[in-house]
Amino acid sequence: MTTMTTASTTQTEPGPVPAGALMAGKRGLVVGIANDRSYAWYIADCIVRQGGDCLFTHLPGEKMERRVSKAIESLGVKDPWLHPLDAGSDDDLDALFEKVKADVGTIDFLVHSIAFADKDWLQEGRFTATPRHVFTQAMDISAYTYMAMANRALPLMPNGGSMLAMSYYGAEKAVPGYNVMGVAKAALEATTRYLAQELGAKGIRVNTISGGPLRTMSAMAVGGFGEILGWVEKKAPLRRNITGHEVGNTALWLLSDLGTGVTGQTIYVDAGYSVMGL
Ligand SMILES: NC(=O)c1ccc[n+]([C@@H]2O[C@H](COP(=O)([O-])OP(=O)(O)OC[C@H]3O[C@@H](n4cnc5c(N)ncnc54)[C@H](O)[C@@H]3O)[C@@H](O)[C@H]2O)c1
Repeated sequence: MTTMTTASTTQTEPGPVPAGALMAGKRGLVVGIANDRSYAWYIADCIVRQGGDCLFTHLPGEKMERRVSKAIESLGVKDPWLHPLDAGSDDDLDALFEKVKADVGTIDFLVHSIAFADKDWLQEGRFTATPRHVFTQAMDISAYTYMAMANRALPLMPNGGSMLAMSYYGAEKAVPGYNVMGVAKAALEATTRYLAQELGAKGIRVNTISGGPLRTMSAMAVGGFGEILGWVEKKAPLRRNITGHEVGNTALWLLSDLGTGVTGQTIYVDAGYSVMGL
C-alpha cells in the first residue's frame, strides 16, 4: 500500500484485497494489457492473487509482445499463455479462441478491456464532424468485439461463466472530448444487457464496470484528460480518483462466485462521481 494526497487529506491508497482463493480453479482470458498501468493489468493482478489462471493476448508485433510480456512478468506469472490478437480481425478472433480451445479446452471467465478511437477526434469541439470510418472503427473495436468474443467464448464455457468489459461515464453523459468513444461505450453497455439476457440461460453472466478516469495509455489520447482527473478529485463524493486495484477488486467480485446473482449490470467504480448533479 502507498499513500496518496487528495485535495484535503493524505490517506492510504486502496490496493488489491488480501490474497486468497476466490478464483482458485478458475481459468480465463484477459484481453487488454498494454502495460502495467492498464486496467486489464490491475484486473489480472487481482485474479492471480486469488489463485485464478489467466491467458493473455497482445496486439500483433514483436514490440507489443515484448511490452505485454514484461507487464505480465510483473504480475509474477511464470511462462504465461500469450497469443497475438487484433480484435478488428475475425480471423484473429477465430485463431485466438481455437488456440484457447486446443490448449486448455474450457474457460470460466473473459475480460474485455479494450477500446480504440482515432485520437484526432477525441478533442473538445470535434464530435459533430466525426467521419464515418472513425465512428465505425470506434464502435467495432470498442463495442462489437465484446459480442464477437462472447460468441466465440460461449462453446468454451459449458459449465457457465462470467464475462466483463470496461466502460466509462461518457456513455451516458456528454463528456467534452470523449466524443465518439462515448457513443461506443453506450453501445457496449447495451450489448452487455443483450448478451446477459441471451447467455443467462446457459449460466453465463455478462457485466460491465464503468471505471473512473485512470492515467493509462488510451486515456491520455482523450483531450482534456488531466482536467477530468482534477474535476473528479474535487467533486466526487470520495473527493479523490479511484485506483486501478479498486476496479480489479470489483472485477474479482463479478468474476468470482461472490457475484453469482449479478448479470447485465454496469457497475460504477468511480468514487461516486456518477451520482452527482453538480
Ligand atoms: N483509463 C481510463 O480512464 C478508463 C476509464 C473507464 C474505462 N476505460 C476503459 O478501460 C479499457 C482499458 O483501457 P485502459 O485505460 O486500461 O488503456 P490501455 O491503453 O492500457 O488499454 C487499452 C487496450 O486496448 C487494446 N486494443 C486497442 N485496439 C485493439 C485491437 N484492435 N485489438 C486488440 N486490442 C486492442 C490495447 O492494445 C490496450 O491493451 C478500455 O475499454 C477503456 O475505454 C478506461
